Amino acid sequence: MKIAMIGAGYVGLVSGACFADFGHDVVCVDKDVEKIDKLRSAIMPIYEPGLAELVRTNVAAGRLSFSSDLADAVQGAEAIFVAVGTPSRRGDGHADLSYVFAASSEIASCLTDRSVIVTKSTVPVGTGDEVERIIRLSGTAAQFAVVSNPEFLREGAAIGDFKRPDRIVIGAQDDWARDVMSEVYRPLFLNRAPILFTSRRSAELIKYAANAFLATKITFINEIADLCEKVGGDVQDVARGMGLDNRIGAKFLHAGPGYGGSCFPKDTLALLKTAEDYDSPMRIVESVARVNDTRKRAMGRKVVEALGGDAHDKRVALLGLTFKPNTDDMRDSPAIAISQALQDAGASVVAFDPEGMDMAAALMPGVEMVSGPYEAVSGADAMVLVTEWDEFRAIDLARIGGLLRTPVIVDLRNVYRPDEVRAAGFSYVSVGRA
Ligand code: UDX
Repeated sequence: MKIAMIGAGYVGLVSGACFADFGHDVVCVDKDVEKIDKLRSAIMPIYEPGLAELVRTNVAAGRLSFSSDLADAVQGAEAIFVAVGTPSRRGDGHADLSYVFAASSEIASCLTDRSVIVTKSTVPVGTGDEVERIIRLSGTAAQFAVVSNPEFLREGAAIGDFKRPDRIVIGAQDDWARDVMSEVYRPLFLNRAPILFTSRRSAELIKYAANAFLATKITFINEIADLCEKVGGDVQDVARGMGLDNRIGAKFLHAGPGYGGSCFPKDTLALLKTAEDYDSPMRIVESVARVNDTRKRAMGRKVVEALGGDAHDKRVALLGLTFKPNTDDMRDSPAIAISQALQDAGASVVAFDPEGMDMAAALMPGVEMVSGPYEAVSGADAMVLVTEWDEFRAIDLARIGGLLRTPVIVDLRNVYRPDEVRAAGFSYVSVGRA
C-alpha cells in the first residue's frame, strides 16, 4: 500500500519508518527542506533509540523515502497521514491547529484517487469534522474519508510502542475507510494487537483522556510522596502495594519531580480548554496541571533545604536535563524550573545530560554545561539527579564522594538505595522516602 506521511517530526518519522517496515511504500513529507535533505543523508533530526537503523534499512529496501513535495507524495496514496505539530497556542493554551488545517488544504488541492486522510496529530475533539469540511470545500472530485488514529508512543521507546501497542484506536465513519486502516495495520492485526474502532470524536477524545489520566496518576503518587515525607512512609512501598491491585496497575506510579515532555503538559491544557468551551469543567485535570506546575519549582526548594536552607555561593550539579531518559527532548522538562529556582536562590548551577545539552543550553541561560557527570560534580556542594539515565544509575559513588565539596545527593527519581548511599557517607534526600 502507498502511504504519504505529512510531517517528518517525532510522530511522523517514527510512524512512517514503522509503516515502511510493515512492507508499505511510504513517503515522509516535510516543509523543512533542510530536514528532508538531512534525512536523505541518513541524519536523524531527533534522538530516538533504533530509529536511524530502522530508517536506513527501509530506505535501502526502497520502501521509505523523503520529500518536500506534498503533491507528489499524495499521488496514488491510499492513506495520507497528517502528523504535523499541534503546539499550545500562545496566550490561551488551546491546541494550535493551523498546521493541521494548512496541511488539509494542501492535501485537498492535490487529491486525485480515493484516499483516507488520517489525523495522527493530537487534535481536540471535532477537528476531524473541520478537516473534512476544509477538504469538501476545496471542491475535490476525489472520494475521501477523514479518520482519527491517535498515537500513543512514548519518546525513548517509540519504535517498540508502535510495533507492540497496547491498542490501536481508529475513529472512522465509513466501512471502506475502516478496511483501508485494517490493511495499514495488517501486521499488527495478524499479531492480535487490540484494534478498537470507534466514532471519530470518540477516538479524538481517547487520546486526551488517556494522557490526562496518566498525568493524574503521576501527580497523585507525587502528592502521596510528599505525604510520605511528612508522616514517615516509603512511597515506593506504597506504590507497589497500590499497583498490585489490578484495577490500579503498577505503571505510572513512580514519584518524581513532576511530568514534562511534549504531550502531558500541552494535552492537559488543551483538554481543559475544550472542557471550558463546552461548559463541561474538568476540575481534577485542572488541579493536576496546577499541582504539577508548582511541583517543578518546589523541587528546587527541596535542593536548597538539602543544602542547609541557604544556596548562596553554593554550586549545584544537575545530572540529567531532558524530561525523561533516552531522548534529547527538553520540552517542559522539570530541569528548567529547578535550575531557575536554584539560581533565584543564589546558587550557581552546572549541568550534564547525555543527549539534551544542545537544547538545554538554549533553554537554561546561565547554567554551565559540562561534558560528563564527574566533571559536573567536581567542586559542587550537591549532586542532584534530575533524569534517570542509565549511566547515572551506574555511577561510581565513591568517585563522586571524592569530587564533591560537600557530600550531598538529592535523588529526584529514587534510583539509589538510601542505605547504600548513606553508608558511603553521603547526606541523601530522595522523593517520598522519609
Ligand atoms: C506520553 C504518553 O506516555 C504517550 O502515550 C503519549 O503518546 C505521549 O505522551 P512521553 O511524553 O514520551 O509519552 O513520556 P512518558 O514516558 O509517558 O513520560 C511523561 C513524563 O511523566 C516524564 O516526564 C516522566 O518522567 C514522567 N513520569 C512518568 C513520572 O514522573 N512518573 C511515572 O510513573 C511515569
